[in-house]
Amino acid sequence: MSDKKFYITTPIYYPSDKLHIGHTYSTVQADAISRYKRFQGYDTFFLTGTDEHGQKIEDKATEAGVTPKEYVDNIVAGIKDLWKLMNISNDKFIRTTDEYHEAAVQKIFNKMYEKGDIYLGSYEGLYCKPCESFWTDTQAADGMCPDCGRPVIKASEQAYFFKLSKYADKLLEYYEAHPTFFAPKMREAEMVNNFIKPGLQDLCISRSTFKWGIQVPVNPEHVIYVWLDALTNYITALGYGSDDETLYNKFWPADVHLIGKDITRFHTIYWPAFLMSLDLPLPEKVYCHGWVLLEGGKMSKSKGNVVDPVKLAERYGVDALRYYLLREVAYGSDGVFSNENLINRINSDLANDLGNLVSRTVAMVEKYFGGTIPAEREAAELDETLKALAAETKTKAEESLDNLYFSDSLTNIWKFVSRTNKYIDETAPWALAKDENQKARLAEVMYNLCESIRIISVFVAPFMPDTSVKIREQLGLAPVECWDECGVFGKEATYNVKKGEIIFPRIDLEKELEELAASQEPAEPENPLKEEILGVAKIGIDDFAKVDLRAAKITECVPVKKAKKLLQLTLDDGTGVPRTVASGIALYYKPEELIGKTVVLVSNLKPAKLCGVESCGMILAATAGENDVKVIFLDGVPAGSKIS
Ligand code: ME8
Ligand code: MG
Repeated sequence: MSDKKFYITTPIYYPSDKLHIGHTYSTVQADAISRYKRFQGYDTFFLTGTDEHGQKIEDKATEAGVTPKEYVDNIVAGIKDLWKLMNISNDKFIRTTDEYHEAAVQKIFNKMYEKGDIYLGSYEGLYCKPCESFWTDTQAADGMCPDCGRPVIKASEQAYFFKLSKYADKLLEYYEAHPTFFAPKMREAEMVNNFIKPGLQDLCISRSTFKWGIQVPVNPEHVIYVWLDALTNYITALGYGSDDETLYNKFWPADVHLIGKDITRFHTIYWPAFLMSLDLPLPEKVYCHGWVLLEGGKMSKSKGNVVDPVKLAERYGVDALRYYLLREVAYGSDGVFSNENLINRINSDLANDLGNLVSRTVAMVEKYFGGTIPAEREAAELDETLKALAAETKTKAEESLDNLYFSDSLTNIWKFVSRTNKYIDETAPWALAKDENQKARLAEVMYNLCESIRIISVFVAPFMPDTSVKIREQLGLAPVECWDECGVFGKEATYNVKKGEIIFPRIDLEKELEELAASQEPAEPENPLKEEILGVAKIGIDDFAKVDLRAAKITECVPVKKAKKLLQLTLDDGTGVPRTVASGIALYYKPEELIGKTVVLVSNLKPAKLCGVESCGMILAATAGENDVKVIFLDGVPAGSKIS
């Protein structure tokens, strides 16, 4: 094996919702660069995985009525399937619930603790007693618990803190000494000005209000903060803190942590500080890519605009989706996904430019030479521009790929694809074929076309691995093994071609868009009641059983003096003793509308005095609108019947 090593990571994804094309974009980039480095002879380690602890997951599991582990197992299986489908060549998949990871994280905690970088302090926040939850000022901005709506109080809990403040200067020094640590560079100023210059606060790294996490080794009442748990995956996956640190010694520090821009702070401030505390080397580069957006904004499940990579890959092919994502989103910027863009890219770049080049060339070699290009060939000066552009494209593609400019590198590769198509027009093989004396020239033209396509099959291999294989099959070649194959013309002695299936069929844009529109699942409408209802604190069946509900018949009904909203009802509740109830429904019902009706009575409510009326119980009504209240009437139910 080579002594050149390359270690790249993706974020470890939360197994909370289904992954979408934004996550796919992230992982596909890491895959392309890993494949490129392997072709270049680097001993490459490509890590991805899942980030499985924390309150969010615990809550979701509770909601689904399963244990957190059962909950994540199920989703993680789907994530692994997605990466398999997308042809992701990761060398390892780490789960933060893996035993070796949990053990290593505890060792890491202890090491930082023994060094004096972790201390027990108290965490200040807004606390909801019934829910046992802490909230930040923004979460509970109105002074109410976002979960149950009851008032929160200022409170503090014991928690462990990491001395992040201690590392501010060291971080600045590191950035200064490593000008390529941030990619794109502009993220550096953002971190320095927004977070480090205003003063780094020590970081709370434990929680005691939920259980789903790795225990703090020095205090089993606490679990370790999910970001400390998550970030360390990059070294625990290599065996750091285990009995076998071979991989760690070989691959650490990471060459690239590839992340989305929203988690830059965690990777360029917290993570380096943790590593400094552990006296470990820091990663070479953190590459913060932009987001894949939809026309309406960022993808989110509640907006109903999540784009499912599985459906797209099934419909258009894995390589078409990979190509589109890598081509469409410019370096460090956001890109906007639309079906129309995707289909246009497939038609113009893949079907027209690349697909046609391959099928035309193979068809001509078959037609003119029965599939085998003869050895006797005649070069011309015109060929040199094609060869020169191949060499230039290699240099440019390398420059861009080494710097993670995926889109630029594809743009350059496609210039070469177009140039090769133009070479067909310039040399007009159909004219050469008519002239017996031009046989050797025609052979050279076909040879150059096959060589160009071979070179293209190397260029596209990191981006579209299956397509590269399919192209080479038609040229009679084995899969790409080495990047440097794309340097120069003249590698193969000759070609024996064999026509294959069309690599990228054209899509009828209009028809496709119509079909998509027809198959569109309706987005879940935004329902403001949903959050309200889900947010109400849960009660047990025992609590409910305490409420005695009865059918009761209204026998008399009169307005209450000086109380515009109240009606005084006399009810037959089945006991034989008339019962008086005051009800705030005077704006909605006239007394005569109510007499003789049967209603739902809360019979065991403690009596209360309302505007001078002793009210013994209440009747149930629905808020049907802002100014609309409807009493619940029961038809044909005898007074006194129990309601449950
Ligand atoms: O943040 N376009 O996990 P996550 C591009 N567990 N990238 C997107 C995206 C979009 N529309 N939406 C999300 C976490 N991402 C942590 C990481 S690492 C030690 C822990 C990216 O599942 C997002 O930017 O919420 C992030 O880099 C990654 O997906 C994982 O997001
Ligand atoms: Mg996120």
